[in-house]
Amino acid sequence: MSGRFITFEGTEGCGKSTQLSLLAGRLRAGGAEVLETREPGGTPLGEDIRHLLIHAASGQGMCPQAEVLLFAASRAQHVREVIRPALAEGKTVLCDRFLDSTTVYQGAARQLPSKEVNALNAFAVDGCLPDLTLVLDIPAEVGLQRARQRASDAPDRMEQEELAFYQAVRQGFLDLARAEPERFAVIDGTSSVEAVTTAIQSVIAERFPEK
Ligand SMILES: Nc1ncnc2c1ncn2[C@@H]1O[C@H](COP(=O)(O)OP(=O)(O)OP(=O)(O)O)[C@@H](O)[C@H]1O
Ligand SMILES: [Mg+2]
Repeated sequence: MSGRFITFEGTEGCGKSTQLSLLAGRLRAGGAEVLETREPGGTPLGEDIRHLLIHAASGQGMCPQAEVLLFAASRAQHVREVIRPALAEGKTVLCDRFLDSTTVYQGAARQLPSKEVNALNAFAVDGCLPDLTLVLDIPAEVGLQRARQRASDAPDRMEQEELAFYQAVRQGFLDLARAEPERFAVIDGTSSVEAVTTAIQSVIAERFPEK
């Protein structure tokens, strides 16, 4: 399987990073060249922006408009410097969060107007859209509990919202998946790591039947 762009989406702690790394291992074992990357981040500039968005003290009090622009800046650089070149070389790109996180977090949950959020996303990605987006769906409280158990230090800036925010995030991803079923697949993220892996494997076999 080559030249495919697959993104992982879902609320905090739903298992994106765990499953991305497992899928990368399986695809490499099958002979694919795989690039694992993430948003915000994925480039030196993007990782600096990630720090501002997630960890920096200066990010406290960030207004939603500044936030969405920083995500878009990270994404614009990521697409041009890393994702598009990798796809052009025939690599499979696995990305931990991508434009749908902006649609959902800044649009559905922070309630910025969807027209502007969609326009910013389109400007950032310039047509470079995922071939498949896996939404790992779990109740927001389960994901938060997992994320907080994992975190050794205090919750980061994006983990400090009220439960209702993450419930809106979960619903936002489900709504996107329903609107665009040819790109999305929703996977039950509440089952075991192994069961989620198996579900992802069958979606990949079904969507990319060449391998
Ligand atoms: N299916 C699962 N069942 C139980 N625990 C899981 C499962 N998948 C992952 N975990 C655990 O839950 C925690 C969160 O998983 P992971 O870091 O993969 O989620 P994430 O979606 O990347 O989270 P974040 O949005 O915070 O980056 C980790 O400690 C991980 O080991
Ligand atoms: Mg993660």
